[in-house]
Amino acid sequence: MNANQHPATPPPAAIPADVHCAQDYETLASRYIAAPTLAYIAGGSGRGVTAAANLASFSDLAIVPRLLRDVSTGHTRRVLGAQPFEHPLLLAPVAHQKLAHAEGELACARAAQATDSGIVCSTLSSHRLEDISRLAGPRRWFQLYFQPGRNATLDLLRRAEDAGFGAIVVTLDAAVQAASLDALQAGFRLPADCVAANLRGHENLSSPVLAGNDSRIFQGLMRDAPTWRDLDWLMTQSHLPVWVKGVLHPQDARDLQQRGVAGLVVSNHGGRGLDGAPASLRALPGVRAAVGASFSLLFDGGIRSGADAFKALALGADAVLIGRLQLYALAAAGALGVAHMLKLMREELEVCMALAGCPTLDDIGGDALMPAAPLLP
Ligand SMILES: Cc1cc2nc3c(=O)[nH]c(=O)nc-3n(C[C@H](O)[C@H](O)[C@H](O)COP(=O)(O)O)c2cc1C
Repeated sequence: MNANQHPATPPPAAIPADVHCAQDYETLASRYIAAPTLAYIAGGSGRGVTAAANLASFSDLAIVPRLLRDVSTGHTRRVLGAQPFEHPLLLAPVAHQKLAHAEGELACARAAQATDSGIVCSTLSSHRLEDISRLAGPRRWFQLYFQPGRNATLDLLRRAEDAGFGAIVVTLDAAVQAASLDALQAGFRLPADCVAANLRGHENLSSPVLAGNDSRIFQGLMRDAPTWRDLDWLMTQSHLPVWVKGVLHPQDARDLQQRGVAGLVVSNHGGRGLDGAPASLRALPGVRAAVGASFSLLFDGGIRSGADAFKALALGADAVLIGRLQLYALAAAGALGVAHMLKLMREELEVCMALAGCPTLDDIGGDALMPAAPLLP
């Protein structure tokens, strides 16, 4: 295999014998993914400061065990945006999944269906959203990137509605993305056959023409970036509930809530947006305080285990999204791997709940955590 290629044929669908916990799929990722591709997937933008902070933030917190509580009627069910979910683990929108496996998003959709998981399909999927929708089960939402030109945005929105997705998750935190230095150094380039299948026909709608003093960023890449006006327009057009992904600032959260969005995703795009942004977990309590206890809030950034999910739930998330780990599991064993990863993570979460004395998700509160700071300075 050429170092920059993704595997042409899917590896046999067998769960690797040495995967014992969800995070093992990350530990073993270099076995299944070529080094440049892995650098692209694992990397954050720039130097990866925020991507690293996402992971580190979970180690700052410990889960406090509680004794003698009856959890024998326990469960992980929760309603999200009026839809019943069996558990609070969703597959995050992740672009270009053919990089990890030829079946890409189709395999993740099957895994979501098989494990009663929610799935958020990316605008930049390698397979068409209609094909993903057919396989994904009832808890399927569509992640929308504003396109340069409202017709192209509207076209995606209508296709998602017609395909039966239950909500629109509009991502607003990555209008411009600095490449990962690790991926650049590794020589990563998107393979020619890894295209955004939903955008065929809308490619290169308009390349900004820059005058002498124009900035490549402000007048160039940001020229067509969405503003509040575009979001207001989208809300008038959508027949589906609109969620916003990429919220970190409490005031943005309040403003979005007032505009009538269905819910928010506290996220820094897995550290692939602004390098230097805070860890998502650090921003979560402030956003929860800003929107109040009953407003719908999802979380992502650094979830690698059921214990991580538990900590995010304790800090105010209603559910969590899983990003990179789904690609690692996908590369290792296709749909079976992703389903296995979700099953492992759900069980890890249930073990945390049982030992922390929380029979339901509503019982997981801030008092379930304590700082894991060193005892001595
Ligand atoms: C390779 C890759 C592609 C991604 N593509 C998208 C995307 O198309 N749309 C989007 O909203 N977020 C995208 N994200 C961000 C994820 O939805 C999610 O916010 C992030 O991966 C969560 O962090 P984690 O990977 O540590 O779980 C992508 C992330 C990765 C790693």
